[in-house]
Amino acid sequence: MRKNIVAGNWKMNKTLQEGLEFTKELNAALAGKELNCDVIIGAPFTHLASLAGEAKGFAIAAENCADKESGAYTGEVSASMVASTGAKYVILGHSERRAYYGETEAILTEKVKLTLANGLTPIFCIGEVKEEREAGKHMEVVEKQISEALFGLSAEDFAKLVIAYEPVWAIGTGLTATSEQAQEIHAHIRSVIANKYGAEIAENCTILYGGSCKASNAKELFSRPDVDGGLIGGASLSVDQFLPIVEAF
Ligand code: PGA
Repeated sequence: MRKNIVAGNWKMNKTLQEGLEFTKELNAALAGKELNCDVIIGAPFTHLASLAGEAKGFAIAAENCADKESGAYTGEVSASMVASTGAKYVILGHSERRAYYGETEAILTEKVKLTLANGLTPIFCIGEVKEEREAGKHMEVVEKQISEALFGLSAEDFAKLVIAYEPVWAIGTGLTATSEQAQEIHAHIRSVIANKYGAEIAENCTILYGGSCKASNAKELFSRPDVDGGLIGGASLSVDQFLPIVEAF
């Protein structure tokens, strides 16, 4: 079933102690609240086990995992290691990983498969850069990213994914896609999925919006029929800014 989700992405921010402090605060803020969405926090590998042990009312995500199962890959962290911490999700294909660490669709396919094989849910990020949007190629770009990385999956596996549409020009820039722009491309993404896997899987797919999503614009974005929540960077670093986004549903 399609879920509403608000997921934080801390990126390379917060020490373990700061992460635990946030967790305590968010636990207290969520206690006894009836929420209309699932809440996730994406954190660095070093924090996963501790946060997963402490979090109440929200799940923990890794921000990446290796494209290999195990072995001589110094410095890498496998999907099975992530699963062993108690984390439930893995953010994959974030534009920063694509741009700074050379992640290609082929590498991402491996990561998605290993994530699923270990019982974790991938939050798979797609999105165009500014030049592509200005050239009117954004629909094409996201279609290519989804089809190249994900359309080798069985329908059963695809149905387990969460998709996050994040226009790269909106990430950390303070520029947000308008809710019309978000709705238009989310509906397109859903139709691309429907063409491949059928209407039911497309209808049930959770598609998040990311890119300068904050308390002031979350309600408007989430009110759109094909926007099922948000992937939140900067505004997930403090409970004060993150909680109103969760409560926007
Ligand atoms: P931002 O980041 O909310 O700071 O724009 C979103 C993301 O990169 O997931």
